[in-house]
Amino acid sequence: MCKALVAGNWKMHGTTGSAVSLASQLNQDWAQNNAAEMIIFPPFVHISAVRSVIGEGAISIGAQNISQYSDGAYTGEVSAEMLLDQGCKYVLVGHSERRAVMGESDQMVAKKFKVAQDSGLTPILCVGESLKQRQQGETVAVVSAQIDAVIELVGLSNVCRAVIAYEPVWAIGTGETASPQQAQQVHHAIRAQLGEAGRSTTLLYGGSVKASNAAELFAQPDINGGLVGGASLEADEFLNIAKLIEA
Ligand code: 13P
Repeated sequence: MCKALVAGNWKMHGTTGSAVSLASQLNQDWAQNNAAEMIIFPPFVHISAVRSVIGEGAISIGAQNISQYSDGAYTGEVSAEMLLDQGCKYVLVGHSERRAVMGESDQMVAKKFKVAQDSGLTPILCVGESLKQRQQGETVAVVSAQIDAVIELVGLSNVCRAVIAYEPVWAIGTGETASPQQAQQVHHAIRAQLGEAGRSTTLLYGGSVKASNAAELFAQPDINGGLVGGASLEADEFLNIAKLIEA
């Protein structure tokens, strides 16, 4: 059985005040017995303040990035141990903004995945194709190569223990969502790539998810929840999306 998750990626938005306010609105409404587990991904500098609001309750905290190194002279980096110390359970690796803007390669993403998982964090591996790659019919090849790079380093069974988020780059922050059929097609291909070991791997869809389009996406057989960007910054909208997920 795949675990149902709803994740809010706050990206580089907000202040301590707005982060605390958003977290407390979510915390007041989200109970442990909801169908899905809720995870929020504040910027590093707001994690501690957010944690003091949500405590050990129904909402989990994740980080948006992690260093591929475990400790030492790496100015500006944040290690797995530091994230665990701050109460994080999850970490995003390979988000398309980090791949495209910060130049993270498949191999670097694989190293980050390994460091995270070895430390006890659950990585959420983000994969997805650009518009050009989709137009050229390369979607499944691109996504499967991104996953293969991680399998090569850590092995299939470890990838299957993590979470995979399919986020088509052309649908991120654009208001343009993959149709439920387009998303399901890629999720099905990912499930097939993982084989037997991936039958219970949680697969999330991300890319302009809103309360108005989430139900149809979440109804697809290989979509187990959502990774939400812009819409996760509004408590009511995010809660409405989260409540559409069935276990
Ligand atoms: P949007 O929901 O704003 O399109 O962002 C998706 C995303 O990148 C989540 O990681």
